[in-house]
Amino acid sequence: MSKNKMITVFNKKGGTGKTSLSFNLAKDLDFPLLSNDDSVIEKIYPGKAKILDKIKLIEHDVFYDLGGFIDEGIIEVFKTSSLIIVPTLLDINSIKRTINSIMEINKYNNKIIVVINRVEKKKLNKYELSINALEGLGKELFFIRESEAITNSIHLGKTISQLYIETPLAAHTYKGIYKDYEKLLNRVKGDK
Ligand SMILES: Nc1ncnc2c1ncn2[C@@H]1O[C@H](COP(=O)(O)OP(=O)(O)OP(=O)(O)O)[C@@H](O)[C@H]1O
Ligand SMILES: [Mg+2]
Repeated sequence: MSKNKMITVFNKKGGTGKTSLSFNLAKDLDFPLLSNDDSVIEKIYPGKAKILDKIKLIEHDVFYDLGGFIDEGIIEVFKTSSLIIVPTLLDINSIKRTINSIMEINKYNNKIIVVINRVEKKKLNKYELSINALEGLGKELFFIRESEAITNSIHLGKTISQLYIETPLAAHTYKGIYKDYEKLLNRVKGDK
């Protein structure tokens, strides 16, 4: 992976998995993580994660976990990012705000991928319209299933990859989510 990568996770919509995914990806890449969201990241990723009141541009390998209002600092981050990851859920409210977020980001940078998070296979047909709407944006789509691995990862401060290799039982339990996550991680690493 080349140096000086700035990767941003953004959605105006709350609770879509921005912090969970950015913590996992940043830690697996050994990148610092900066956020404008008051979460547990400084505790679970000590020395590497920092919560900032105001987002500013930092020109080295860095991950941003950003939500809320798009201000000038965030626009600078959008413009400079090598990749912008937009996690979403499939309910209609999330889709609406996700599409709106993507349209806004697109004004500054079109290198956007969408992560459909908390997917439950059995319910997928119910969300056909939502998925069609996302497909219509012409961005690459990734799927991350609903899994307690995400909650555990935040509680324990370990990534899904770290949990997966811990014990044979963990490998068995987390096989599905690890596969989903590995696809995203490889995309982010840039070696599709
Ligand atoms: N794939 C998943 N499976 C199960 N639970 C998940 C998954 N992704 C996220 N969650 C849970 O959803 C909740 C919201 O996730 P997270 O805090 O990462 O979202 P966020 O977008 O950062 O939220 P906020 O807008 O509050 O910053 C958390 O409780 C997290 O554990
Ligand atoms: Mg968050």
